[in-house]
Parts: sequence; structure tokens; C-alpha cells
Amino acid sequence: MEKHYDIVVVGSGIAGLFFARKAAGLLPRGRVAVITKKDETESNTNYAQGGIATVMSGVDSFDLHVSDTLKAGAGLCHRKVVEDIILHGPKVIEKLVEIGVKFTRSKGGTYDLGREGGHSINRVVHASDLTGREIERALLESCRQRPNIDFYRETIALDLITYQHKNINCCGGVYTFTPRGRVFRSFYAPVIMLATGGIGQVYFHTTNPDIATGDGIAMAFRAGARVANMEFIQFHPTTLYDPGRRPFLISEAVRGEGGILIDSAGRPFMKEYHAQKDLAPRDIVARAIDSELKQSGAPSVFLDVSHLDKVFIKKRFPNIYKECKKRGIDITRQPIPVVPSAHYNCGGVVADLQGRTDISGLYVCGEAACTGMHGANRLASNSLLEAVVMADFASDDSLAFRQTNNFPDTPPAGEWLHSSLGGNREKIVVTHDIEVLKKTMSDFVGIVRSLDRLQMAGERLRIIQKAAEHYYLTQPASYPIIELRNMSLVAGLIVRAATRRKESRGLHYLLDHPETDDRWLHNTVIRPHNYLPRKNNLLRRKDGHSL
Ligand code: FAD
Ligand code: SIN
Repeated sequence: MEKHYDIVVVGSGIAGLFFARKAAGLLPRGRVAVITKKDETESNTNYAQGGIATVMSGVDSFDLHVSDTLKAGAGLCHRKVVEDIILHGPKVIEKLVEIGVKFTRSKGGTYDLGREGGHSINRVVHASDLTGREIERALLESCRQRPNIDFYRETIALDLITYQHKNINCCGGVYTFTPRGRVFRSFYAPVIMLATGGIGQVYFHTTNPDIATGDGIAMAFRAGARVANMEFIQFHPTTLYDPGRRPFLISEAVRGEGGILIDSAGRPFMKEYHAQKDLAPRDIVARAIDSELKQSGAPSVFLDVSHLDKVFIKKRFPNIYKECKKRGIDITRQPIPVVPSAHYNCGGVVADLQGRTDISGLYVCGEAACTGMHGANRLASNSLLEAVVMADFASDDSLAFRQTNNFPDTPPAGEWLHSSLGGNREKIVVTHDIEVLKKTMSDFVGIVRSLDRLQMAGERLRIIQKAAEHYYLTQPASYPIIELRNMSLVAGLIVRAATRRKESRGLHYLLDHPETDDRWLHNTVIRPHNYLPRKNNLLRRKDGHSL
């Protein structure tokens, strides 16, 4: 089945929705498709708590926000990108307010500004502790009012449709699969926007929801785009320790309001690690907790807010209070057990600030992109900022691109190989591989790494990646198979990048090379032709009857 659009957006988080809404407005006679793999709200965006960092107060300055960002990024931020994004911050906040986002305001009507690690001042605009949910709500409502946007929910993008034009690698569409009714569709459009978000699910412990399997990065890489800085995986220091239950983040804003990290004996330990104590940058706090846990053998440390005003806690963090209470912890009286877990990917598909990639017609924005904003360690609450600014710039750029180029209505799509569809293998094979992959990443490619462990991880992942390609080509399509294929590729890229960088910097800490080494003051770029087996670039699955 074929669908033709002017613009196809994959993903309905902040980046995808902001982009789709603006593009649909700029192109009132055009048609925009938003493809999203679960329901429209399910995204990392929906779970964002802390807020959006931006310069809003008279005592703050763009220079200060830039310098905090560069400092956290440990030498690898792209200064011009950082400056452009930060300068544009207040404008996108106003646009979000126009769209209907209700940020928390103080009594005088100004924005209430939160504080998070690595920021030298309060500058985080938020909607109490449910900022992401409020942004998703407003963006979705606004997109639904645009008659020229069609949503395809519960539909997963599998691979990009690429073709060569005058020796240029071009993207003209995307193959998708909808489990309900087992529908395969090819979407064609001159502009394809990948806004597929993060990769947290390649780890066993993560703050990210199930959708975060790195699909966009894997698709773009298979199609020929470079990826960069995949070794810089950010671990959030404070996820609620509640084994076997759905992960729940305890926002860094809690430390911003005075929360203190303590061990089981009540000892506040952050002062032994950094002058900024509990508000040190995230990499330092996460490593400090990792070290405390390894030394003590305890399953968690604790975040204590019991010394703060109870009424204030309930008002400022209503959702955290409610969720912890539901799980048996009254945070106004008891310390919260917390552990670090995989949270954010500072790397991604190489893109400029307009979201342009190596492939003509293919745009990427938000967490799936690597622009140089975050360098080796993202400053808290800078990612919603980057996502929305990029989406804003990319909509202008991609429409100009569409108007100045001639595209074939249906580009010559690569032949999809027929799979034999040789019977349904037991699903346990796939779920087992997913579990081994996640355990391998958490145990061997976590906060503190060694070359030995990276090598072991690489060996295991190669086997899983090969198996995943095989399942993908021979088994009936399913989300677990499609996601395992993407996760194993993305996990392999993380290991490759981490093995390459023979130093410690930002989020990448390597026991064999614990010092920062300025010979590594550059991005870790991986090119598909240096990594993928040649045939993988050509392989496409085809379930003959359903295409
Ligand atoms: P997402 O919001 O993750 O959206 C990705 C979309 O792509 C989803 O709709 C998904 O279903 C869809 N998708 C993925 N793959 C496919 C596919 N193959 N086919 C179809 N659809 C697909 N950042 C901040 O700046 N401030 C915060 O306070 C903050 N708090 C956070 C709290 C939590 C718990 C988490 C997990 C993250 C937080 N972050 C925060 C990070 C931030 O939320 C994300 O980086 C940001 O929301 C990413 O936006 P995005 O639009 O790029 O991706
Ligand atoms: C948080 O609220 O702690 C998350 C902020 C972020 O990831 O930027």
C-alpha cells in the first residue's frame, strides 16, 4: 500500500509535533503525516519533569547559560550551535505559550524558575513536575486542529526509502508496519523528518519508556547517514529504586530545591566529590552514586527532602509526592531510595541546527540528532530546548528545500527482499536476546567502563545483531523483532564509539584511561560503510502478500 504526502514526520514527541504543526501551518494546501509507534502521547517528552532551561530572568544572561552548557559539555560542544539554540530559547517558550502550554508562574505572573545540576542560576521553566505531559497535551491539541495533519498511530517505521539522484543519496519515503491488520505501507514525501527520540531501552535500567529503542538512529545509519558521540550516554542520578516496578524519575529539580543525597547511615556524601555538592553536573553525581554503591554494596542511596517545608514539597512536586506515596514512601517524612539509570543519548544522527543530515531530504531533530549542543555531557533541561528550537528551524528549512527541488512522485525504491516467512519461531528466542542485550549494556557499558568489558559486550552484541537481522528477514514482522534489530545496531554503535575513545571525558569514564586527553578533543563519528556488513545496506524485508 502506498501513501503520498508533502511531509512525513516519524515521532510525536516535542520535536515531531512542534515540527509537524509549524510545517502544516506554512503549507496550508500540503499534507503532513505523523507516524508514531504507540499512542500519540507515548514519548520521552511525556515523562519530562524538570522543564526547559532558558534565559528568562533579569539576573541571568545568555552568556551565563552558554558558559554553563559548554562547561558541562567538557570541551565537545559546538559553540555556535549552543549560542544559537540558547539565544532562540525565550522565543520558543513564547511560541509554546501561544500554542497553549501552561507553565507554572509565580504570584507576580513571571515564570517560576527551577534549578538543576550544573546551572549557576535558576533558569528552568516548568509546569510543576509534569512539564512534558503539559507540552504533549498542548501540542497534540493544536496539531489535531490542523485539518492537513493525518496521524498514523500504532505504526512503526521500519526503514527509509532511499535512492541515488545525480550521485547524491536521497531519501524519499519510509516503510512502515501496523500490527493491527498486519498492514505494510510505503509513505512517500520529499521531506522525511525523523523525530524518534532516545535509546534508553538498550539498557536494563532506564528512565525512558518502551518506545525509546533508537529506531531513528538505526534507520538513518542503515540508509547511509553518519552518527556521532554515541559513547556519551547520560545516566540520571536519581531514579526511584523500586525493583520490578515501572521506572520513575525523581527530578533533579528536587535537588535544586534543597534535596540532599545521603547513604543508608544518613551521611551526605556529595561534598566529598564536588564543590557544587548535590548540584554538581549529572555525570559527576551519577559516578559518585555508582562509587558509593560499589563501596557499600547497598542497593541504593537516598534522596532526602524531609527537612523542607511539607506544604511546599506537595505543591512544587505534586506528581513525585503522589507517585512515591502510592509506592509506600511519604517523601515529606522518609528519604527516597534512588539509583542512577540510563536517561539520555548525547549522540545521534549527525545533523546541523536545521536538522539536515547527510541524506538529501532526510531531516532529524530532537534526541535522535547530534548537533553539538550537548558535547560530552548534556546540561539538565537543555534537551527539550534543543528539540523545540531545532524543530522550529527545521520546518522553515525543509519547506524551502521542498520548494526549490524537483522530486519524483514515487522515487525508485530499493527492492525489498522476500522473506521465506518460514513459520513462526517461538517468541522466547527474541525476548531472550532483548534481555541479554539490555543486561550486557547495563553490566558492561554503564557509568564506569573498561576496555575488557567493552570487548566482551561487543562480542555478545555482534551475535545478537546477526540473529536480529536473521529474524527480521525470515520471521513475520513484530515490534520485538523490529526493535531488537534497531537496539542491537544502536548498542553496537555505543560500544564501538566507547571503545574508540581512549580517554575519560564527560559521560564516558574508562578505567584504562581515567584522564582527559586533548588528543580526543573531537567527535567520535561512525560512518555506515565502515561498520555495516555491505549487504545490510541493501536488505529490505518484504512480506509479499501485504505490501
Ligand atoms: P520523544 O519525545 O521520545 O518522541 C519520540 C517519538 O518517536 C515517540 O512518539 C515515539 O513513539 C516515536 N517513535 C520512535 N521510534 C519510532 C518508529 N520506529 N516508528 C514510529 N514512531 C517512532 N529533558 C529536558 O530538557 N527537561 C526535562 O525535564 C527532562 N526530563 C526527562 C524526564 C524523563 C523521565 C525522560 C525519559 C527524559 C527527560 N528529558 C528531559 C529528556 C527529554 O524528555 C527528551 O530528550 C525529549 O523529550 C526528546 O524529545 P523527542 O521529540 O526527540 O523524542
Ligand atoms: C529531571 O527532571 O531531572 C530531568 C531533567 C533532564 O533530563 O533534563
